[in-house]
Amino acid sequence: MEKTPPQERWVAVEQYIATHVIPPDPVLEAARDANLSAGLPSIDVTAAEGKLLHLLARLVGARRILEIGTLGGYSTIWLARALPTDGRLITLELEPKHAEIARANLERAGVAHLVEIRVGRALDLLGELDRQPDPFDLVFIDADKSNGPSYLAWAVRHARPGGVIVVDNVVRDGYIVEDGSKDPDITGTRRLFEMLAAEPRLTATALQTVGSKGYDGFAIALVTG
Ligand code: SAH
Ligand code: DHB
Ligand code: MG
Repeated sequence: MEKTPPQERWVAVEQYIATHVIPPDPVLEAARDANLSAGLPSIDVTAAEGKLLHLLARLVGARRILEIGTLGGYSTIWLARALPTDGRLITLELEPKHAEIARANLERAGVAHLVEIRVGRALDLLGELDRQPDPFDLVFIDADKSNGPSYLAWAVRHARPGGVIVVDNVVRDGYIVEDGSKDPDITGTRRLFEMLAAEPRLTATALQTVGSKGYDGFAIALVTG
């Protein structure tokens, strides 16, 4: 086999995987195109990662999903498609413009009736959500990385036993191993890993990912009690 540079090989394999297990999907492709045209950063999950979120939601039989960090709703569509007809997804987004693009994408995808986009700082919005008693079956944390520990703490309090918590961007080109880092994204994620280790209600792992988004990772935690 010809020796291609790693990044090129990762992208080719990502495409290979998608070709086999992710059928062409005009709705998802339209959402990605709309995000690009609107000038949103291209930091949505990949198709293979979106499908992983979708599968996890189905595996836990999710009826209530919380997403922190909507962007243009690409991951939201993958998650919403895992819900039953009476399911509910709440997604939190700081930027009104992102929320507006996401709303249009969710409508085009035919899942808008399942999704509530709340606009504001996630920490404030979570404070408001504190008052609602129904637990979540899946929480996907994908907003500002420095607040990851607070989001995880909230998720632990509001996820049902048997539920799952997924955190994006936990590897960051490997910088996560730098214990002297001053980067708040890195220190936030390192604190999040300490919480994963210490929290008795969680049992967790993390997967390193490579592909069109470079080298990063997902943490996945089961809520045990
Ligand atoms: N989950 C999306 C990508 C999210 S990108 C997908 O995979 O398709 C991260 C998003 O978090 C951005 O839209 C950003 O505006 C939002 N964000 C950043 N800080 C935030 C905060 N404090 N509260 C809520 N959202 C925030
Ligand atoms: C960034 C944020 C993300 O959620 C992501 O998946 C990739 C990059 C970022 O802020 O750089
Ligand atoms: Mg992300």
